[in-house]
Formats: sequence, C-alpha cells, structure tokens
Amino acid sequence: MRRPLVAGNWKMHGTRASVAELIEGLGQLALPVSVDVAVFPSSLHIAQVIGAFEGSAIVVGAQDCAQQPQQGALTGEVASSQLLDIGCSLVLVGHSERRLLLGEDDEVVCRKFAAALHEGLTPVLCVGETQQQREAGNTLEVVGRQLSAVVEQLGVAVFARAVVAYEPVWAIGTGLTATPQQAQDVHAAIRAQLAAEDAEVARGVRILYGGSVKAASAVELFGMPDIDGGLVGGASLNADEFGAICRAAGS
Ligand code: PGA
Repeated sequence: MRRPLVAGNWKMHGTRASVAELIEGLGQLALPVSVDVAVFPSSLHIAQVIGAFEGSAIVVGAQDCAQQPQQGALTGEVASSQLLDIGCSLVLVGHSERRLLLGEDDEVVCRKFAAALHEGLTPVLCVGETQQQREAGNTLEVVGRQLSAVVEQLGVAVFARAVVAYEPVWAIGTGLTATPQQAQDVHAAIRAQLAAEDAEVARGVRILYGGSVKAASAVELFGMPDIDGGLVGGASLNADEFGAICRAAGS
C-alpha cells in the first residue's frame, strides 16, 4: 500500500510575515496521520519553516537544487548538501516553470535528480505536457520521454527513492484541472513504463497529480488507483484549503 503524500509548492511567494502566518495556520490543522505532508517554501524561507515545524509531522523540501551535489563556486545556486544540512528531505526537480521558462532540459533535470539522490534527498520528478502537446495527441510520448531520460541515465532503481509528479502544464495555475480519468490514464502509463523495467519499483513509487488541485477536486482525483496524492501550488498558500486537501488524501 502506498502512503499518500500531499506537497505544497509555495513557488516564489512569501515574505517573512506571510510565511509566519502560513506556518501558524498549518500548525493549527488537524492533519491525517495516514498522509505524508510536505511544504516547499522559497529557499529564503526554508530555515524559517524548518525551525517552526521542528518536531511536527510536516516535512520541508526545496523547489530546486544545483546540478552538482556539493557546495562550491557556483554563484546563486544551492547545493543538495546544503539543503540536507539545513534540514530538507525532498527537492522538486524539473518543475515545468523551470523547464519552460528557465530552459532546463532533460539532461539538466537528470543531473539535479542525481545530485539530490547523492545527498540522500528524495527527488520529486515533475513531468507533464503542454496544451499544444496534448491537443496533438502527444501526452504519453512527452511524459514518457521525460521519465525515460532519468531511467536511461540513472536506472529504474532510483525510483525506489524518488517521487514522480504528473503536472499537465495547461492545468498549472490556470484553474483547469485534468479530469480524474485524464490524470489516471497518465499515471497508469507512468507506472506501466516503470513496471516494464521493475515491477516492484513501479508498485511502490508514489505518483502525485499537480495542476490547480483544490479541496473540491481532490477527493475524486485521489480516489483514482494510481494517484497517490498531490503537488499543490496556489491552494497550498491557504492553510485551511491545504488542510482540506490533505484530509482528502486520507479519506
Ligand atoms: P497550481 O500549481 O496548483 O497552482 O496549479 C501546481 C504546481 O505548479 O506545482
């Protein structure tokens, strides 16, 4: 049985004051014990959030990491070893905003994935198609390619220590959510692709859905057999909404 994971991606949002407010709100939530809960603040706020959640069940991740695992001369970047040192346990790699707006290709994503794993962080590999790719009928091909870039470079066994997040680009921050069936179809294809290499790894890997997840859509999405939780952007900035999404994963 896979344990659900709900992860809040705070993106480039927050000030010290608004982060303190969000921490306060999250601290008051009754979160289901059957669900893993993670938040991904901006790197500026990671220490603040980790300090506040010490001893709590909420774990903290980073939104990105450098391609090289250890600290060094690389202005502006943050190494996985530094993220581990500060107390992170997960890191997003290949979020579509980084792929599409900041030009990260599969090779870069793969190196970041490897860097995270090297330091013992859990990479959350984000994959997903654009609207144009979906309309052209290329969804499974695009997602399959993003996944196989990592499998071919690093081997399927790395997915025993990683999470996959399927995030259709057309659903991110747009208010459009994939239907539970649309999402399930892609999740099943991702799992089947991994199963072709290693059935046990495929059975165990958690595949999250992301793209305008709200409390109202979460129950149905999380009810699908291959959807093991969510990667939540906008709605994760509201503690009550995020709490409701976490509860949906536990129901
Ligand atoms: P959204 O973002 O929930 O605001 O659509 C999801 C994500 O980009 O991780």
